[in-house]
Amino acid sequence: MPRSRKRHILVTLGPTWEFIDPIRFITNRATGTLGYQIAQEGLRRGHRLTCVAGPTTLTPLSGVRWIPVVSAEEMYRAVAAVFPKADALVMTAAVSDYRAAKRFPAKLKRRSRQIFLPLVQNRDVLKEMSQRRRHQVLVGFALETERVERQALKKLREKELDLLVANVLNYRHDPFGAGPVSGYFLWKDGRCQKVARVSKKRLSRILFDAIEALIASRHIREGKSAR
Ligand code: CTP
Repeated sequence: MPRSRKRHILVTLGPTWEFIDPIRFITNRATGTLGYQIAQEGLRRGHRLTCVAGPTTLTPLSGVRWIPVVSAEEMYRAVAAVFPKADALVMTAAVSDYRAAKRFPAKLKRRSRQIFLPLVQNRDVLKEMSQRRRHQVLVGFALETERVERQALKKLREKELDLLVANVLNYRHDPFGAGPVSGYFLWKDGRCQKVARVSKKRLSRILFDAIEALIASRHIREGKSAR
C-alpha cells in the first residue's frame, strides 16, 4: 500500500472492570475477540494500529501499540490521548455504563441480609470523542436483545457516528467469543447492510472496506488528497 494510504486506526476492545472492593468488580461478557480480529485485519491491510484493551485473556498483537486498561475511566483517558492522532476510532469495547459510587478499600464482609450498592454513570467514551472530532471517522458497536435496528439507529444519531454495527443477542444468536455474528451495518447516510451468521473475520473485512471508504470520502470532502 502507498505510504499515504496507511491510516492510524484506534480500536478499543474487551470489557471494563469497575471495582467495588479490592476483590469484586462489575463487568460483562465481552471477550475482546471482535476488536482483536479487526486489529488483525487492519494490520493485514498495512494500517497502523493502536489497541486500547480492557482486561482479556488475549495476547497483545505484535506490530500493534497495545495499551492495557482496566476501568472505563482508564479507557477514556487512553482513548482521549490517542484520538487526536487517529484517523478512525473503532469502539468495540463493552464499556461499563456504571461504576460503584464508592470503592471500598477493604473486602466487604457478609453482614446484612440485603445491601444496596449505589452506582454512578461512567462517561460515554464514544460520545465524548464524537464531540471533539475533527477529521476522525467514528464507528460504534451495539449489542441488542430486542428492537435491534431501532435501538441501533438511535445510538448512531445520538452519538453522531459514521457507522454503527449492531449485533443481535437472542436464543439463536450469541455473539460472544469465537462464534459467528448476525446484525446490521448502519451508516449515517441511511445505508443499511444486514449480515447473517458471518464469522468475525468476515465481519472485520466488511468493516475495514467501510472504514477505508469513509476515511477517503472525508478526505475528499475536506479537500485533502484521498491517496
Ligand atoms: N460506549 C462508550 N462508553 C460508554 C458506553 C458505551 O464509548 N460508557 C460505546 C461502546 O463502545 C459502543 C457504543 O458506545 O461502541 C454503544 O455501546 P452500548 O453499550 O450499546 O450503548 P449505550 O450508550 O451504553 O446504551 P445502552 O443503554 O444500550 O447500554
